[in-house]
Amino acid sequence: MRCVIGNWKMNLLSTEAAAFCETFLAHHVPVSGVAVGIAPPFPILRQVGDAVRAKGVRLFAQNGHAEPKGAYTGEVSMAQLQDAGCAGVILGHSERRQLFGETDAALVKKVKAAREWNLLPLLCVGETLAEREAGYTLEILGQQLSILAETGPGPLWVAYEPVWAIGTGLRAEAGQVREVHAFIRTKLDQFMDRGDYPVPILYGGSVTPDNFPELLDIPEVAGGLVGGASLDPLKFAELVKLAG
Ligand code: 13P
Repeated sequence: MRCVIGNWKMNLLSTEAAAFCETFLAHHVPVSGVAVGIAPPFPILRQVGDAVRAKGVRLFAQNGHAEPKGAYTGEVSMAQLQDAGCAGVILGHSERRQLFGETDAALVKKVKAAREWNLLPLLCVGETLAEREAGYTLEILGQQLSILAETGPGPLWVAYEPVWAIGTGLRAEAGQVREVHAFIRTKLDQFMDRGDYPVPILYGGSVTPDNFPELLDIPEVAGGLVGGASLDPLKFAELVKLAG
């Protein structure tokens, strides 16, 4: 299975989202074997989910809190995400780790909570430029993936997003992606039973229709987690087509 997931981050008002959906749906051709998802900001989750569901597009959230309810001002629970129509939730995005202090300990709880509410956790991992230049890439990724020893088995998607390639127009070279994706697979095999829950490994970081075919040719690259290009309905529809 291949996956194309759009991460809208903190972009689009409801009118803009409606325009996106109209254009995207006019060009989107569902392809068997390609899972398509969109992760809008919280206030427009239900609106976007309702608009795209009929064409098989899955709704993802960009974050969720581990507790089902309570005094957590400003947070949104996995229960509420499920109630809003989400099928999955992006967890551990580097922007959440770097800008909002998201820790591996919190991610253990979030992965477990997502599964409890039947949400597919899409766990993001990736190294910073400083970590790569210091030769720590695999060590950092191994550490980020080691939370899977504590979450136990269950449905999971993983996205490798080198922090230095996000929103920069820089893309990791094929050799770098190949090395990291193979490493992630060995770690997943260490922590999970491959037969029970096949785990696709997506690549993220300045993915565009121009570079997507080359990325998809790399072993263990099962698709893309797309930021900027997912805000353009024609580019996003094109990415789906390329994955087919
Ligand atoms: P860009 O595609 O804009 O580089 O963003 C990648 C990303 O962070 C997706 O989660």
